Amino acid sequence: MIYSDGNSAKQWIFSEIHRRFENRPVRILDLGCGSGMLWKRFLELHPMAHVTGIDTDQVAIQKGMKEYGLAKNMSLSVFDAQKLIDQTEFDVVTALSAIEHVVDREAFIRTVWQSLKRGGFAYLNYDVGHFRSRNIKERIMVPVSQLLAYVGFESPYMKRVDDVIFLNQLEKQGFYIVRHMKHNASCLKPRMKQGGEDVVRLWVDFETRLNELLRPEELDPFMLSTTVVVQKP
Ligand SMILES: C[S@@+](CC[C@H](N)C(=O)[O-])C[C@H]1O[C@@H](n2cnc3c(N)ncnc32)[C@H](O)[C@@H]1O
Repeated sequence: MIYSDGNSAKQWIFSEIHRRFENRPVRILDLGCGSGMLWKRFLELHPMAHVTGIDTDQVAIQKGMKEYGLAKNMSLSVFDAQKLIDQTEFDVVTALSAIEHVVDREAFIRTVWQSLKRGGFAYLNYDVGHFRSRNIKERIMVPVSQLLAYVGFESPYMKRVDDVIFLNQLEKQGFYIVRHMKHNASCLKPRMKQGGEDVVRLWVDFETRLNELLRPEELDPFMLSTTVVVQKP
């Protein structure tokens, strides 16, 4: 199991990267990586992989740097994914639970485009939990965070990603949409942290099968997480 910590979307994404590259060298760029800790198990299992993680949160990046120490297959830096980065030719770009926190999504998509090599894949994942929360403080933070971003303070930003708009933006940039999936059933996710690896495996298989049977818009009311897989032609 690459990522068994109660998130079937992330487990599916890691499994897909594994399926495509197995143990061959692969250069991955993770946008909005936080501390980058969620790559730990993947990197243990894939010594030929290299992950470059960027995030605007300096504290998270410093925490990650302490944890990874001098690890050769992970480099972390404080950087804004809305700006173009120097490095290009990545085989894979990921954004995990991140796009709902990005203010300028078109600029973010340009970064994904510019950093991917031709034929490369991006796994773009976002969640809806903040916007469906019963916690009143969290609900209030959504419009407040948008006002704060308006006056230039972007770090707490949250805005629900509209699937149709996001897919259009990706196509306008030139991406080919490979898959559009829904994961993390709201009735299952809170319980899955206690489940062992077998349970997570069953969970991921079950949701993968649901995505074959039903359209994303049919699954959306019951699912907390969306993943769009795109390829740069
Ligand atoms: C919910 S966290 C997810 C962290 C990690 N990917 C994970 O799944 O655990 C969202 C992250 O996106 C980062 N973020 C938001 N806007 C960003 C931007 N423009 N550039 C880089 N990182 C950004 C935030 O700082 C935060 O660490």
